[in-house]
Amino acid sequence: MARLSDAFIDDLLARTDIVEVIAARVPLKRQGREYSARCPFHDERSPSFTVSPTKQFYHCFGCGAHGTAISFLMNFDRLEFLDAIDELAKRAGIEVPRETRQHNENPDTRDMFGVLDEAARFYRTALLPGTEADDYLSRRGLDGSIREQFGIGYAPGGFSALKDALGTSPRRLTLLERTGMLSKNDRGHTYDKFRDRVMFPIHDRRGRAIAFGGRVLKAEDSPKYLNSPETPLFHKGRELYGLWQVRQANQKIARLIVVEGYMDVVALFQHGISQAVATLGTATTPDHAELLFRNAPDVYFCFDGDSAGRRAAARAMESVLPRMKDGRQAFFLFLPEGEDPDSIVRNEGAPGFETRLAQAVPLSQFLFDHLAEDGINLATLDGKARLAERAKPLLAQLPDGAFADLMRQRLTELTGVGARSAPPDVHVPVARARRGPAGNAPRRSLVRSAITLLLQKPQLALELRPPYRFVALRQPGVELLTELVAIVSGRPDIGTGAMLAHFEGRPEADALHRLAAIDLPGDEPGWTREFLDAIAQLDRQTLQQRVDELLAKQREEGLDAVDKAELRELLQARGAAPGQ
Ligand code: UTP
Ligand code: MN
Repeated sequence: MARLSDAFIDDLLARTDIVEVIAARVPLKRQGREYSARCPFHDERSPSFTVSPTKQFYHCFGCGAHGTAISFLMNFDRLEFLDAIDELAKRAGIEVPRETRQHNENPDTRDMFGVLDEAARFYRTALLPGTEADDYLSRRGLDGSIREQFGIGYAPGGFSALKDALGTSPRRLTLLERTGMLSKNDRGHTYDKFRDRVMFPIHDRRGRAIAFGGRVLKAEDSPKYLNSPETPLFHKGRELYGLWQVRQANQKIARLIVVEGYMDVVALFQHGISQAVATLGTATTPDHAELLFRNAPDVYFCFDGDSAGRRAAARAMESVLPRMKDGRQAFFLFLPEGEDPDSIVRNEGAPGFETRLAQAVPLSQFLFDHLAEDGINLATLDGKARLAERAKPLLAQLPDGAFADLMRQRLTELTGVGARSAPPDVHVPVARARRGPAGNAPRRSLVRSAITLLLQKPQLALELRPPYRFVALRQPGVELLTELVAIVSGRPDIGTGAMLAHFEGRPEADALHRLAAIDLPGDEPGWTREFLDAIAQLDRQTLQQRVDELLAKQREEGLDAVDKAELRELLQARGAAPGQ
């Protein structure tokens, strides 16, 4: 995707009123400086969703959802990034830079979508009543409306039905090849990839066909399913079959059920369970996990009960752990040998399948069960130690929050051994509020308070003048503080939301987001004073740090002339520093 400049996005956000954007979709109530509502991204009775007009971002204390006007539109209206930008630009009356539009309307991309759409139509039309394919689908219980909903069709036998129908010019033949619709033999001759198969189009987030899966009609033919190869439009690890249909069928998606196959998705829909998606025969990737939780707070993974199913579940678990923000839940459902969601829902109906879902194992339980699987004996010290050892790297992947705390507590209960949270350098220093000059705590909270102020009032960074001594200070959070200052000097118009967006996906994101949500007491001049004061103190601590280093060197090996000059200068600067 062509990148829009940060400056453009900052400007767009600066000219957008997030309160207006959200109020048009969610009823907001004014509360002091902010607005609140019941969170549109999770179910709740009392409002914990807030929108800040000054910080220009939204934040839910319940589920952790947060972001700018752009991410709100992406999540609430389920728009793609560029479409959200277009929407806001239209509101603000500004022009989106031309290169981006051109890319968006790249003729090659457009034509590839075009030819795939034609192929999907060709297959649908070829699925004639009374044919073998029609019979097959009827035997599997799929009626006309579900076939239509999923665009199911039939690829005729022979070697060139599609090629002859659509490949009417060299350009169109190239497009068919690039979209993976043709195969090539040793002599370079191309022919239809999909022949005599029931066809399932795979749709992207806007409902456009980007690939196909084709199933044989007879049990003895193979491979049972043939899928489009990876193409410029189709990356298997990033798509979920059925997600488009789920979005069409549900106003608000309370849960997603992840199954293995095309038929599982379609059969569940046919029985009224319209929240199923499939990973297309691959393991659940981190991209999948992200996509799943962006669409629903609860995700159920269905697996075969055999050992392959257990392994697949373990991989899925590893992909979801880093995404388990508070308010999200993952469940694991293991099916009896030889069954899949399609067979279950056909034999037991929707109620039967729902009953099984209700008994699915929550992630918390699955994780510890899985780790203890091959014969760890928790009655022994050795067993406990081994469980703790195995659990630590997994628990370290959980984002900060109540869920992570509970999981660590659970590990302690099971083993008597606590799991440390993530390494300290990725942590924003946690501090109790500034509590005066006693002890070590205020040192850490200085950095924290500077970060908090900077997040909420990014333009404070523009008040700083070199030399920026504090960047050399060895204290938790200083690198982050430096990064924030650097961002603002490069993007002087940046707001809180865009600042947070910069850290999206990084380990610090959650902690920063909590700091950004704090309601700062006081006023603008007070904040400026507090910020400059914090930086001045950090500068002094940095001086002291260097003085200590030089003094230590003096004791151990003695100082050369340069060192001595530096030390003199430092002592002078320290003496001259105000307020000490
Ligand atoms: P299964 O073999 O479990 O088939 O493959 P299924 O979904 O139960 O299919 P039906 O019910 O016999 O029609 C699960 C998924 O793995 C992928 C497909 O996405 C399939 O839906 N798969 C399977 C392939 O890609 N190729 C194959 O040859 C088999
Ligand atoms: Mn099946």
